Amino acid sequence: MTEKVKVLFVCLGNICRSPTAHGVFEQAVEKAGLSEQILVDSCGTGQWHIGQPPDDRTQKAALKRGYDLSYLRARRLEEEDFQRFDYILAMDQRNLEDILAMQPNDFKGKVQLMLDYGNDKKVKEVPDPYYGGNDGFEYVLDLLEQASANLLSEIQQSL
Ligand code: 4NP
Repeated sequence: MTEKVKVLFVCLGNICRSPTAHGVFEQAVEKAGLSEQILVDSCGTGQWHIGQPPDDRTQKAALKRGYDLSYLRARRLEEEDFQRFDYILAMDQRNLEDILAMQPNDFKGKVQLMLDYGNDKKVKEVPDPYYGGNDGFEYVLDLLEQASANLLSEIQQSL
């Protein structure tokens, strides 16, 4: 059997956006019957929430759409991730810059913005919903559901 394609979603705290991407994309992978071929994970560039489950508001909004994020625990991006993952996908420009600053020269995978896979090419960043109202969490889900579908199509074509 060939090696799994490994996808890592990265945000700042790993309690709002990247766990949402993790849960949404993992469910799309499962529904496509590709769990044996694609591995999904998420992490944050910051250390504040290490070991914590996703933010309550994130979990509630996701669960309403059928994504259970309760099993996830925050962790920080580490150097070994560049050996393990094929896709390292940032939620915003700041995350992207922080990832690129850690990226070793011999990394062979892709470091990109998740919304490079979005439907609306004018929207480049998944906005941080942490300090805003509930609408922000719905918008994060909208953006990530679209981008996940497009990302999965690309990976499926490579399998
Ligand atoms: P996330 O949101 O990066 O989407 O997980 C944040 C969560 C917490 C903080 C910042 C962003 N914080 O500063 O604690």
